[in-house]
Amino acid sequence: MAKSTVSVIKADVGSIAGHTVVHPALEQAAIKVMDEAKEKGTLVDFWVTHCGDDLELIMSHTKGVDNSDVHAAAWKAFEKATETAKDLKLYGAGQDMLKDAFSGNVRGMGPGIAELEFTERGSEPLGVFMMDKTEPGAFNLPVFKIFADPFCTAGLVVDPKIHDGFVFEVWDIQDHKKVRLSCPEEMYDLLAMIGAKSRYVIKRVFPKKGVLPEDEAVAAVSTEKLALIAGEYVGKDDPVAIIRAQSGLPAMGEVLEGFSFPHLVSGWMRGSHNGPLMPVGIDDAICTRFDGPPRVAGLGFNIRNAELVGPIDFFDDKAFDHARQKALEIADYMRRHGPFEPHRLPLADMEYTTLPKVLKKLEPRFEEIK
Ligand code: 13P
Ligand code: 13P
Ligand code: MG
Ligand code: MG
Repeated sequence: MAKSTVSVIKADVGSIAGHTVVHPALEQAAIKVMDEAKEKGTLVDFWVTHCGDDLELIMSHTKGVDNSDVHAAAWKAFEKATETAKDLKLYGAGQDMLKDAFSGNVRGMGPGIAELEFTERGSEPLGVFMMDKTEPGAFNLPVFKIFADPFCTAGLVVDPKIHDGFVFEVWDIQDHKKVRLSCPEEMYDLLAMIGAKSRYVIKRVFPKKGVLPEDEAVAAVSTEKLALIAGEYVGKDDPVAIIRAQSGLPAMGEVLEGFSFPHLVSGWMRGSHNGPLMPVGIDDAICTRFDGPPRVAGLGFNIRNAELVGPIDFFDDKAFDHARQKALEIADYMRRHGPFEPHRLPLADMEYTTLPKVLKKLEPRFEEIK
């Protein structure tokens, strides 16, 4: 049987009354294009949703990653949704559509992409995780915990199928380099890099020799940097990830445990503040207070012959109430810092915002300190 592919491609093409939430008409516009792609046989199945102001296309097919027909369908969906957003005069209509002419792949054009191609197991549980008001490095901590931390994933200790650990592919998104590190052997080297989450980003996770093919990634994260594409601040690179689970992988409950701690991520208001990442159900994936706090939503599917069975809305569950409560306490605490670091991001990370322009005005007034 052909391998199955899940492609999650997302973009912010406009939202209601600020950077809050996608208008339902945009989802409808995208669904229409997705339906056409399914009829044409490009897609086997799809699910359209949102996390905050990001329109999320979850597509399943048998065409592999980086397929031009699949990418073209996503681009067209965003174009149609942009038209609707402009028509409704929504805020930030077409925000992430940084280039005009589509030429086979949406990479580097604004949207974020995570794709996995794999041989379907007897049962293929898979989670799609979507964040708003933050950057790709926000996935570093949960993905590390899921695949390398035995205090999160009990299976690393007690399940012989995952006891040997996993291999992490890390991208240096500034220097465009990548490296693979094996855990647990190289865990401290891995952490030395991925703790610097604005630069080093976990891109993929691979299994070691065992029950699953070693060359098929089991997790993938979008790593697009809008600021690097556009050369200036155009909104955050709100990331997505796909994570497979069970039978030779962390159990889905271990995957979700990775999101139970609302760690500090950069993004939030104007992409310029640190704040807690709050796990929420799709209905609560609305960014309000100070354009946040940053959110993560998750949908679970079973893949059956490249078809999406589901979804379940993972964080729409009482088990995450404490994580949310903690996130809200941290939000209050961080907000009290106002324009001070470490609530506001450090200068290096403010490079692509309007702050350099503000400081430039003062340049002529500076005197030497003798
Ligand atoms: P599997 O190895 O079948 O995924 O079982 C692990 C499990 O479900 C524990 O919760
Ligand atoms: P988005 O990246 O989600 O559009 O948010 C931009 C912003 O400036 C929020 O304050
Ligand atoms: Mg926006
Ligand atoms: Mg967004």
